[in-house]
Amino acid sequence: MKNLFLNAAWSKPTERPPVWMMRQAGRFMKEYWEIKNKYSFLEMCKTPEIAADVTMLPIDLLDVDAAILFSDILVTAEAMGGQLSFEAGVGPTFANPVRSEADINALLVDGTEDRLKYVADAIKVIQQRLNGSKPLIGFAGAPFTVMSYLIEGGSSKDFKKTKLFIHNQPELAHKLLQKIADVTIIYLNMQIAAGVNALQLFDSWATALAWDDYKEFSHQYNQKIIASLNRTNIPIISFCKGSSVFAPLMAEAKPDVISIDWNVDLLDMKNRLPKNIAVQGNLDPFVLYADKKVIKERIHKLFDRMKGTDGFIFNLGHGIMPDIPFDNVKYAIEVVKEYRY
Ligand code: CP3
Repeated sequence: MKNLFLNAAWSKPTERPPVWMMRQAGRFMKEYWEIKNKYSFLEMCKTPEIAADVTMLPIDLLDVDAAILFSDILVTAEAMGGQLSFEAGVGPTFANPVRSEADINALLVDGTEDRLKYVADAIKVIQQRLNGSKPLIGFAGAPFTVMSYLIEGGSSKDFKKTKLFIHNQPELAHKLLQKIADVTIIYLNMQIAAGVNALQLFDSWATALAWDDYKEFSHQYNQKIIASLNRTNIPIISFCKGSSVFAPLMAEAKPDVISIDWNVDLLDMKNRLPKNIAVQGNLDPFVLYADKKVIKERIHKLFDRMKGTDGFIFNLGHGIMPDIPFDNVKYAIEVVKEYRY
């Protein structure tokens, strides 16, 4: 499959930057709520037909250049034995947080493919629906970010328990990270076999780590994962908040694309990376709350800066917030699609 998104991911020339947005199928859409009001979030993820319906919403309503599988990064932690629930206003919660070596030993690796088969099934349904029109991005959470949820028992502002764990019990932390990495490799290879066209590894909370801790407890596992994927023509996107600092190190794990947050000038960062690594992202998602005039100006400014540089995928530096007006998201995508280098 050749298209704008894949060409840009392989650092080939494109007539304009391709566009997709993290959380492009979500609560900012009334059509998402029409489905969400009938099922729980996990039911939506686990029912292939529903996951496919939701995946297709931004394709049908926004005409973005790539679809992303509707799922969550925490399904791997659930498949390992985490008792996961999502509650409105609270976010993800694990009723059995990991606190001891016995807890780590109890986590499952064998049988990962069976327990996550619903994702492979969803990918097959989505590919039938897409019918070659757009590429499908699969994904997983990176071990450090997934571990932080297992240890904290849910979302955290300061990652205090996670940091205490890596600082005081580094051997146990490595044991846990290696188990999550093993599951992630099985899971992503299953997604490749089921037919995804690209993969993104989400390491959202690596931004909390000091440089040396990032190297030891995050980067080396992401590197192992990327090196263990059975792929020839599937580009890998590496995402982390904090990539404005970590991107040169992330590049050593050899992803094809690095998603960049909004704290850095994108062209300056691109020029610091190996030539064959494309960049994605960089727009502050809060710009999408602003007046349309501002949205257009900011997108044009970014594109004018990147003019003449192959390997650029337009996206936000992080996901679309639930209260961003749908109309603004739609407008931003129209602005991208009208642009020509
Ligand atoms: O991007 C997409 O549209 C694909 C689907 C997707 C979701 N989550 C759907 C979702 C993807 C790729 C994710 C990744 C994810 N999940 C990340 C990494 C990206 C990031 O945002 O940093 C993380 C950290 C999670 C964990 C997670 N899932 C949290 C913290 C929450 C609740 C917080 C919040 O935003 O309310 C979720 C729930 C979640 N995942 C929702 C969606 C659409 C909302 C569920 C609902 O409708 O209640």
